[in-house]
Amino acid sequence: MSTQRVVIITGTSKGLGAALAQQVLDADTTLFSIARGTNPSLAATAAERGAIVHSLQADLSSAEGTRQAQEWLQHALPRTAQQYWLINNAGTVEPIAQANQLNDAQAIQHALQLNVGSAIALCATLLAATDANPHAERRILNISSGAGRRSVAGWGVYGATKAALDFYTQTMAMENHPRLRCVSLAPGVIDSPMQSVIRQQHADDFPDVQRFLNLHAEQQLSSPDETAANILRHMGSDAFGSTLLDDIRRYL
Ligand SMILES: NC(=O)c1ccc[n+]([C@@H]2O[C@H](COP(=O)([O-])OP(=O)(O)OC[C@H]3O[C@@H](n4cnc5c(N)ncnc54)[C@H](OP(=O)(O)O)[C@@H]3O)[C@@H](O)[C@H]2O)c1
Repeated sequence: MSTQRVVIITGTSKGLGAALAQQVLDADTTLFSIARGTNPSLAATAAERGAIVHSLQADLSSAEGTRQAQEWLQHALPRTAQQYWLINNAGTVEPIAQANQLNDAQAIQHALQLNVGSAIALCATLLAATDANPHAERRILNISSGAGRRSVAGWGVYGATKAALDFYTQTMAMENHPRLRCVSLAPGVIDSPMQSVIRQQHADDFPDVQRFLNLHAEQQLSSPDETAANILRHMGSDAFGSTLLDDIRRYL
């Protein structure tokens, strides 16, 4: 029997992406998982639940790694499923510095490619692979951030990439792509490895660091599992797509 739902998730080796990948696995689902690192627990969970998982190790911060992921998907995606979900989750918060110190052009380029360029390219791959399937319902979720909607000192690059992802999602939504719903979603503050990176910053680079240390000390962060469950519930609901620039905290 052919698979009913195809799900592509980036950044599945840890944090929010790992939780999304674990939870989406069921007997009707074929998961395509992409990260630089591996996540062996996905194969074990897939075997337990009768799901199929295909994994690719690729660096989406480079054009070459992104192309590798696109070619892999073009070749391997089943063409006759009823639902196709793409979750562009992989992201980096670095480089973190104020404007006069944001001088590492390569780090800036990597962040732009990972947070924006790879997401745009994978959207194109999904749309092209499914355009000819008249029954395919397509849902694209771009994981954004509140940082793209209000400025945070030290997050000039991060905020710019997430604002760009928001803008791109709005553009895709106004184009004529049949059976497509898309959303750019802020996931809230999640207790993931990215938050440890944030807490390790120097206040010169990131003046808000104490606020994030306090949030952690006061256990105000949501867990990746809890956030993933809320996101997947919303992504499967009829409301998905009605608010293009959304925030998962509206659905708790
Ligand atoms: N954590 C928060 O509080 C928070 C708040 C707002 C928005 N977000 C957004 O939520 C998403 C997930 O964040 P997270 O907190 O789970 O981050 P995380 O803990 O740093 O995990 C990031 C994931 O992205 C993958 N990744 C990083 N660089 C990559 C690359 N060059 N190529 C391919 N994959 C790469 C990582 O895997 P590898 O290292 O193995 O490649 C990992 O699986 C991000 O888009 C982030 O901006 C997070």
